[in-house]
Amino acid sequence: MQAEDAFVVAIDGPGGSGKGSLSVNVAQALGFHLLDSGAIYRLLALKAMQQGVDLEQESEVIAVLDDFNIRFEAGDELSIPYLDDRDVAEELRREETGDAASKVARHSAVRKQLLGLQRSFFKPPGLVADGRDMGTVVFPKARFKFFLCASIEIRAQRRYKQLKNMGLSASIAQLQADIAERDERDQNRSASPLTPAEDALIVDSSLLDLSQVTELVLSHIRHGD
Ligand code: DC
Repeated sequence: MQAEDAFVVAIDGPGGSGKGSLSVNVAQALGFHLLDSGAIYRLLALKAMQQGVDLEQESEVIAVLDDFNIRFEAGDELSIPYLDDRDVAEELRREETGDAASKVARHSAVRKQLLGLQRSFFKPPGLVADGRDMGTVVFPKARFKFFLCASIEIRAQRRYKQLKNMGLSASIAQLQADIAERDERDQNRSASPLTPAEDALIVDSSLLDLSQVTELVLSHIRHGD
């Protein structure tokens, strides 16, 4: 594939819709790079919390970006996130980090500053970009755009299993409440709210397993429609 043939596959959707695992599968199948943009917001939130920053204050969160040293290294299955040269994979997946990420992600100046970093992940042969605003704001010209959704009950169950597998405790009722609260915040913020791009294909993953969703998305890409 020529460098000029490189393209972006944008996969957006709310937490627990299955877009993270789908993005890993699609990137692997295509041999593409992967951007987990949620991890960038989570890393920022983690650093902001370490510094005792008020997450509601845009100027305080922006200041954290002055010295924001992150990188991702290839792991066995998933890539490993580093903050200031420390492996923070476990802290990053915690619910409290996701919640804090959703708070720092509300600030439009923060989102703007992170655009360049996110776009730098696009390199030949191509990129699978996972997030909330990949198809609408970060990569509006993405060749393929998918928006994954699933019922809140299914998403809470998936999150529960994920946390259990990581050895973390959780209650399904609490997870459902947290997901509803985070959806509300992500969908109703003024800066790049969570919403499907007009030209996105909406995929409801409630009744499909990961391999079925992966097949659906890959066949769409292979047929180029
Ligand atoms: O996908 P995730 O759960 O790791 O994302 C954590 C939070 O980061 C999510 O609640 C909203 C925010 N986020 C965002 O605003 N824009 C993105 N492109 C990705 C994540």
